[in-house]
Amino acid sequence: MTRLQATAIAHSNIAFVKYWGNRDPLLRLPYNDSLSMNLSAATTTTTVAFAEDLSTDRLTIDGEKHIGPALDRVSRQLDLVRLRAGLRLRATVQSRNSFPMGTGIASSASGFAALTMAAAQAAGLSLSEAELSALARRGSGSAARSIPGGYVLWHAGTADSDSFAESVFPADHWDLRDIVAIVSRRHKGLGSTDGHGAAEGSPLFRGRLASVAETLATVRGALASRDMARFGAAIEAEALNLHAIAMTGRPPALYWSPATVAVMHQVQAWRAEGLAVWFTLDAGPNVHLICEGQDAAAVEGGLRNLEFVEGILANRVAGAAHLAPTLVV
Ligand code: DP6
Repeated sequence: MTRLQATAIAHSNIAFVKYWGNRDPLLRLPYNDSLSMNLSAATTTTTVAFAEDLSTDRLTIDGEKHIGPALDRVSRQLDLVRLRAGLRLRATVQSRNSFPMGTGIASSASGFAALTMAAAQAAGLSLSEAELSALARRGSGSAARSIPGGYVLWHAGTADSDSFAESVFPADHWDLRDIVAIVSRRHKGLGSTDGHGAAEGSPLFRGRLASVAETLATVRGALASRDMARFGAAIEAEALNLHAIAMTGRPPALYWSPATVAVMHQVQAWRAEGLAVWFTLDAGPNVHLICEGQDAAAVEGGLRNLEFVEGILANRVAGAAHLAPTLVV
C-alpha cells in the first residue's frame, strides 16, 4: 500500500511589526511587510501521512480528533500541496503543541508552518525556503514567518510567489526574550482571520498604512544595532496601533481584559523604575514582555508576584522549521 509520510517541527512567532489586514484575503496577501522573532517555547510537531486507504483527510491535535472548520482549513492547505504534487491521496494529520492548548498562545503560525513542511515533504515536493514560506502563508499569514529561522521579515509582495518571509538576522544576533504573561486561557472573541477583514473598516486604517513602512524601518534599524530603548518604544507603539485599528474596525474587537491593561501599566511602571522591558500583543489578551536576556529573570520574577497573571511562557529566539524523524502514526 502506498504510504507517504513526513514529520516537521515549527516554532510560533511574535510579530514586532504586525500583519493586520489583507489586500487579497484568498491568497493572504497582506497590506504591509511584517517582522517577527521565532519563539523557542512554542512549537508544533506535525506528521502528515498520505495513504491509499483513506476516503477523507483526518486531523488530530493534541490527541483530540477534529472535524468541521478546523479540518476544512487543514484540507484546503493539503489540497494546495496535492495540486502541486499531482497527488490524489487523502492524509492523516497528527499535530502536537509544546504549549498547552487554550493558553491563548497563537498556534496557527507554528501549526500551518509544520503542516505545510511535513505535507510538502511527504508528497515528494522539493521546495525552496521561500516557496515553502509562500505556501505556508496560504494556510495562515503568520505561518509564512515560522518557516525561516531567527528574526524574520515577511515581504508583503504583490502576488502569490513574491509574498514570502526570509531571515534577516540569525537567532544568535541578539538575545531577546519574549516572556508571555498569560492572563486569560479563554478563546478570543474575534479570530485573526475575521480581524483582518474588520481592519479595512476602521477609519484609522489608512493612517496605519501611511506610517507602517516608517515603523518597520525604525524597528529593523534598532534590531540591527541592538538598540533596546529605540526598539522597545517602537514595538510598543506598533502593538497599540494595531489594537486601535481592532477597536475601531467593523466589527470592532476589544481583545483586552482588565488584567491585560494591568500588565501593560505594570510594564510601564517597571520601566520607570529602570527595568528595560517593553510589551507587545497579538490579537488576544495575553501580554508579551520583550527584554534582553540580562533582564529576563527580573521580568519573570516580577510577573510571578502579580496575582492576575495565570501563567508564564518564557521564550528565547528560535531557529527555522525543520523535518524530524516520524514516530508512530
Ligand atoms: C495580530 O496569521 O493568525 O498576530 O492569516 O487569518 O491565520 P490568518 O491570521 P494570523 O494573523 C496574525 C495577526 C497578529 C499579527 C502578526 O502575527 O503579524
